[in-house]
Amino acid sequence: MSKKTVLVSGGAGFIGSHVTVELSQAGYDVVIADNFSNCDETNYKGVCRILGFEPPLIPMDFCDKAAVYALFEKYPIDAVIHFAAFKAVGESVSEPLKYYRNNLLSFLNILDAAKHKGGCNVLFSSSATVYGEAETLPVTEQTPRQPATSPYGNTKTMCEDILRDSVRAYPGIFGIALRYFNPIGAHPTALIGELPRGVPNNLVPFITQTAIGKRECLSVFGNDYPTPDGTCLRDFIDIVDLAKAHVSAVGRMLDGRMKQGYEIFNVGTGRPVSVMELINTFERVNGVKLNWKFAPRRPGDVVSIWADPSLAERELGWKAVRSLDDTLKAAWEWEKYIADKA
Ligand code: UD1
Repeated sequence: MSKKTVLVSGGAGFIGSHVTVELSQAGYDVVIADNFSNCDETNYKGVCRILGFEPPLIPMDFCDKAAVYALFEKYPIDAVIHFAAFKAVGESVSEPLKYYRNNLLSFLNILDAAKHKGGCNVLFSSSATVYGEAETLPVTEQTPRQPATSPYGNTKTMCEDILRDSVRAYPGIFGIALRYFNPIGAHPTALIGELPRGVPNNLVPFITQTAIGKRECLSVFGNDYPTPDGTCLRDFIDIVDLAKAHVSAVGRMLDGRMKQGYEIFNVGTGRPVSVMELINTFERVNGVKLNWKFAPRRPGDVVSIWADPSLAERELGWKAVRSLDDTLKAAWEWEKYIADKA
């Protein structure tokens, strides 16, 4: 049987690079396309070193409709995984049009090109942000979505709906939305990982940058929440585990095992971990002391969210297996690798 080709938009980024590795190792031909708007070539080079070959890399912007059409003409794309998007929650509030234009237009162009080719399997990179502050925990895929609290979150909700409606309307288009909880960590080789530009918004990159001395002090946003230790609860999912969920989902689409034309799966561990527990675990497993302090709550943060991942286990045969200890060790190895390179 000939190898299937998967297009990975945003394949040079944090999640896209890990997914490229896992798909390639599972036997797929991967075509990466990225405009490098929020990353450099570090992860792509790391991917090449891990794989021992260079997957095709097309520098392009998915907002360029002609370029997207050309890509679909050039390669026999069996499935596309769409990561290419802006993702800074705060910036999306001050620059909503930038977010709506980029995140929606790129996805519309992909769906248009897929439709033009007579169909395609489309996997959309969604987020637990669509659940907002859920009334019951853990959240299942049936838990109602809440109005998004930021334009970024809104683009995730809207893209889910655009995919659902396209599947309904256009024969040959099949869709899966994976709702990620909090992806963290790095590849065990420490050759690929998260490379935020400027001051990190997310917790783990801020922790590792503080530990290495790039940042002076980590602020823990809020210690008066109604949780066991007063800090927020999240479902931190290892990036390699998360990447493997994509391999399972792509396999399900390509083998015709979907039960509906459009499906949604939570990608999380099912285990809530507090911000404080994460910090303590990081210090313990890596033998480092972190400079941190309590600070006021960060506006827009939900108190607690974690997944019920049982649907993914049942239907995709996927389950998170890496321990938080290993994930936080990998995050630290990656930060040290980057510091050595600088
Ligand atoms: C955010 C986004 C989510 C996105 C994810 C990954 C929202 C509401 N959240 O999730 O959509 O998919 O990033 O990009 O849209 N924290 C600190 N100090 C810090 C940084 C974070 O205490 O310096 C705390 C936060 O208050 C929060 C937890 O750590 O309680 C996790 O924060 P973060 O890593 O930013 O992820 P989320 O806000 O959960």
